[in-house]
Parts: sequence; structure tokens; C-alpha cells
Amino acid sequence: MTLPARVKLVEVGPRDGLQNEPQSVPTHVKIELIDRLTAAGLPVIEAGSFVSPKWVPQLQDTAEVLAGIQRRADVRYPVLVPNMKGFERALAAGVEEIAVFGAASETFSHKNINCNIDESLERFDDVCDAARDNNIAVRGYISCVLGCPYEGDIAPAAVARVAERLRGMGCYEISLGDTIGVGTPLKAQALIENVADRVPVEVLAAHFHDTYGQALANLITVLPLGIATIDCSVSGLGGCPYANGATGNAATEDVLFLLNGLGIDTGVDMDVLLDASRFISAALKRTPVSKVARALLKSRNESRSGESQS
Ligand code: HMG
Ligand code: MG
Repeated sequence: MTLPARVKLVEVGPRDGLQNEPQSVPTHVKIELIDRLTAAGLPVIEAGSFVSPKWVPQLQDTAEVLAGIQRRADVRYPVLVPNMKGFERALAAGVEEIAVFGAASETFSHKNINCNIDESLERFDDVCDAARDNNIAVRGYISCVLGCPYEGDIAPAAVARVAERLRGMGCYEISLGDTIGVGTPLKAQALIENVADRVPVEVLAAHFHDTYGQALANLITVLPLGIATIDCSVSGLGGCPYANGATGNAATEDVLFLLNGLGIDTGVDMDVLLDASRFISAALKRTPVSKVARALLKSRNESRSGESQS
């Protein structure tokens, strides 16, 4: 098995995670979370989205969040943009990178962004042109790559078609979203092999939600196929408001523990990441979904209480 020497982790918790919280999280908490993730060494941190506040009120303060964070020059802070209106808002907020987000399922496309796949691609084409004129990098997402909450199975060819279009309009990276976490390893393998026939595997990222507990198994399957960019969410936060029952992405702590164990470099410091995980879990009044975070925080507490007793 040939594994990449280095993997880029794309932290999506402040966006994919917090968009799904029933109550909005205060702006200062979002800012502190992003600053803590920056301190942990994450190279890319999705900071929010410029979508309709009627659709996703949880992230309507993204401009304030971007204005409040301590940006590090070598860290990117992309935001989601669904259309030109979102692009104008992102431009006004001074972003250097955006992400457009389409789907491989027609029904999901309608539920999530209120248009069909081809209409969405036309919108993204305009957004990509405007981004190019303004020197803004664009990432492209495709949802429902391993299954749709409304349509069930999705053919890899449907994903490959959208990936090719996104690449053609200038997306530098294409993130494959298992939105509802129904993928299993052989399906994930077939997906990557099919999509990599149409776009270079080096530009693909794995965005696997962990609803069915398969995300790590799927990731270990796609790493030897050339996937070296993984989206993950601190503490396992998240889901999609338009995909009922979907839970968060593979937790950043779990992915990092796996990659550390495989000797794969990420530049991320587990200890500082754990502090970020504990911070957001306390703010949301819950324990982290991440098993690694729970185990490491427990042993950290035990060794601290051992120290104070001795
Ligand atoms: P629409 O209702 O068809 O939009 O929604 P519209 O163009 O007809 O405009 C209606 C109103 O919204 C107008 O305002 C517009 O100005 C306003 P009004 O005149 O009624 O006062 N509007 C906006 N306001 C602010 N920012 C904007 C914007 N656009 C229109 N950008 C729309 C279409 C795309 C806007 C809507 O469906 C939407 O915002 N959807 C976003 C849903 C979303 O954020 N979903 C979660 C992210 S995707 C995800 O989580 C999956 C992912 O993680 C990958 C995976 O896991 O698979 C990425
Ligand atoms: Mg997602």
C-alpha cells in the first residue's frame, strides 16, 4: 500500500459544523474557535458561508467572523458562495478563497440551493469568472457522491460529470462530499477510480461525513489511490441542514490520530487541536463526538489529577 507522505487537512468545523447547530453560536465563540484551529496548525479553515440568511441563519455573521479572526499569512480561510450575490458579499469581506457547492443528485440540488444541477453550474461559471478577475481561488464541492437522502444510490459517472465541469471552469480543487455518510470502502474506491478518469486525482479531496461510522474506513481506502486532501471537522461537529439525519464529518482529531499512526505528516499539533475541541464542546455544552478527543482528554485529566495528588 503506497500512502502519501503528507496530507492536507481542510478544517470545515466552523462552517459545516456550526451551520447545523439548532441555535446560532455567538460570533466571538466562532472567532475564538478559528483562532484556536489556526494555532493548531490547520492549513485551511473554512470560516463560514455567504448564503441566504433565510436558508442558513446560523452563519449570517460570517463577515464579522472574518473581520475578527487573527489571520496567519500561510493559512487559508475560504467561505461557501452559492451565487453572484454571495460572491459580492465575500469580495466585500476581503476573502482570498471561496467554495462553490453543487451536487450529483438533482433532488438534493433543489433542496439545498433551489435549482437543478445544470443551472447551478451556470451560476458557478459566473462566480468562477468573477473570482478569476479578482484573483480569488475557487474550490468546488460535489454533494451526495456516495448516496442521496432523496434519490438513494448515485452513479459515479454522475459525480465525474460534475467534477469535470467544475474543473473546467477553474476550480483548483474538487471536494467529494459523502453528505450523509452512507459510503463504504468499495463504493468509495469505485468513486475515486471513476472520477480520476476525468480529472487528475491530485485535485480531489475527500469530504466524508461519519453518519454510519464509515468515514475512517473510507479514508484509509482512498489514501493509496492518491487522495491527499481530507476535509474534517473539529470534534466531529456538523451535518447539512438540507440532508436530514446527516451528522458531522470525520472528526479532525480522529483523522489526525489515524494519519499520525500511519506516519503521514500534516503539520497539525494534536494537543492544541484538543484544546480547540474542548473549547467548542464546552461552548455547545456537549462532549466531543470524536472518540480520539474523548480518550485523549480523559487521559489528560487523569494524568493532571494524578500530578495534583502526588
Ligand atoms: P433562492 O431563494 O432561490 O434565491 O435561494 P433567490 O436568488 O431567489 O433570492 C431570494 C432572496 O435571497 C433574495 O432576497 C436574495 O437577495 C437573497 P429578498 O429579495 O427575498 O429579500 N439571496 C441572498 N442573500 C444573501 N446571500 C446570498 C443570497 N442569494 C440570494 N448569497 C440560494 C437560493 C442559493 C440563495 C439558497 O438556496 C441558499 O442560500 N442555499 C444555501 C444552503 C446551504 O448553505 N446549505 C449548506 C451548505 S452545503 C453543504 O453543507 C454540503 C457540503 O458540506 C458538502 C457535503 O457535505 O456534501 C458543502
Ligand atoms: Mg459537508
